[in-house]
Amino acid sequence: MVVIRGATTIAADTKEEIQKSVTELLEQIVSRNNLKREELVSIVFSSTSDIHSYYPAKAAREAGFESASLFSAQEPEIEGGLALCIRTMIFVEKNISPHHVYLRGAKVLRRDITDIYNVAIDGPAGSGKSTVAKLLARDYNILYLDTGAMYRACALKALEAGVEVADEAAIVSLMRDVRLDVAYENGTQKTLLDGRDVSEDIRRPEISMAASTVSKHPSVRLHLVEKQREIAGKFSCVLDGRDIGTFVLPDAAYKFFLTATPEVRAKRRYEELLAKGHAVDFEELKAEIIRRNEQDSTRALAPLRRADDAVLVDTSNMTIEEVVATVKKFIQENT
Ligand code: DC
Repeated sequence: MVVIRGATTIAADTKEEIQKSVTELLEQIVSRNNLKREELVSIVFSSTSDIHSYYPAKAAREAGFESASLFSAQEPEIEGGLALCIRTMIFVEKNISPHHVYLRGAKVLRRDITDIYNVAIDGPAGSGKSTVAKLLARDYNILYLDTGAMYRACALKALEAGVEVADEAAIVSLMRDVRLDVAYENGTQKTLLDGRDVSEDIRRPEISMAASTVSKHPSVRLHLVEKQREIAGKFSCVLDGRDIGTFVLPDAAYKFFLTATPEVRAKRRYEELLAKGHAVDFEELKAEIIRRNEQDSTRALAPLRRADDAVLVDTSNMTIEEVVATVKKFIQENT
């Protein structure tokens, strides 16, 4: 006995839409698996809690699949789940390797039902990438890996130890004796230096430029990239950074590059720092953001750059909700 899975989203909760979508889904499953209808032993459907107008099992019977035993059920509301989605599980009495069929973006990227996948979100400071990455990871119930936090932790360590951040050899020797870890508490990333939680300290304004300088050193990068790849290989996650799509995970399933004008980026960062109680001068911050971007974009190894296959999103005039919706829409349409 072989099990084939399938799912489709529907445009609206109407009888016609359910009949049309169920028919299309079953026909695709039959043709892609090279089956005859009689070979389907049993077809089980589940519909999301927002579908009320018709039974998928009844639609299947009307579409000529009456020789299988048919069953439909309704799911409870699942946080972060897809809307208007009909899923099916088909039992087949034939020794085939099944082709599962997902139509109209119906493959939900929930951790419990998918293989490991990664979403790369790159872009300059203030482009909105960390906020978007966090929300996406929350909605898909996967990890969020803030790679900038790792470079920031190195920079913090250097500043605390009085080591010059531009001195590669000194930084490498300093980091040799330090344990840098990321841990998760209620889904939130904690950055740990020798077990000390530095998640707040690394956000101090003076750390940003120092992190950018530390990140120019190839040996620092290679060390941190190895850690990032290790985490991404073990867990589905959304990673944000500068080089995720180009260097850390060139084969990531989904890649985005967020941008915004320097003015907008500086304004966002300014408001963020103000809210945390840091007194900063807007013009100085803007100049620093531009300089940092320049430094990140011109370093020798893995500079900030959009991967050729990354989706470019200019967030200058978008709300965070709009950016998240754009990213999700692309993922759903390309899954
Ligand atoms: O995203 P952030 O502002 O926390 O990053 C701080 C610095 O770390 C950034 O200016 C450059 C560096 N960085 C990097 O080189 N590669 C990454 N993947 C992430 C950050």
